[in-house]
Amino acid sequence: MRLLPPLLGGAFLAWAAILPAQAQAPLAAQGCLGCHGPQGAGIGSVPGLAGRDQAELVAQMRAFRANERPGTIMGRIARGYTDAEIIATAAYFAQKPR
Ligand code: HEC
Repeated sequence: MRLLPPLLGGAFLAWAAILPAQAQAPLAAQGCLGCHGPQGAGIGSVPGLAGRDQAELVAQMRAFRANERPGTIMGRIARGYTDAEIIATAAYFAQKPR
């Protein structure tokens, strides 16, 4: 029984450490789902994001934001996201099944 409190403390610390990363990505990714599909799988002519390489998604978002890649809407959307949000969002879609 003497072992229980340290064990619980360790479990809490582990939970607290992963929580921000998990909570932030879906939140920043919410705004993408309407166009890119509920699972980021793509709808119609809007390309899918699920299962894509994280670094590639980040590079595309930065290119849209910097106006280096032309697009109909993504340039304006990408400018609303910080680098940290872009990285978290890309991580979220990268770990989704394609
Ligand atoms: C209003 C609809 C809309 C929203 C919201 C939206 N996208 Fe897009 N996205 C598009 C369209 C349309 C394209 C095709 C390029 C263009 O026309 O701008 C695209 C293209 C992309 C591409 C390039 C994919 C490829 O295959 O080249 C990426 C990456 C991307 N979007 C990421 C995101 C992320 C991340 C979000 C949320 C932060 C998001 N998009 C939100 C409509 C949207």
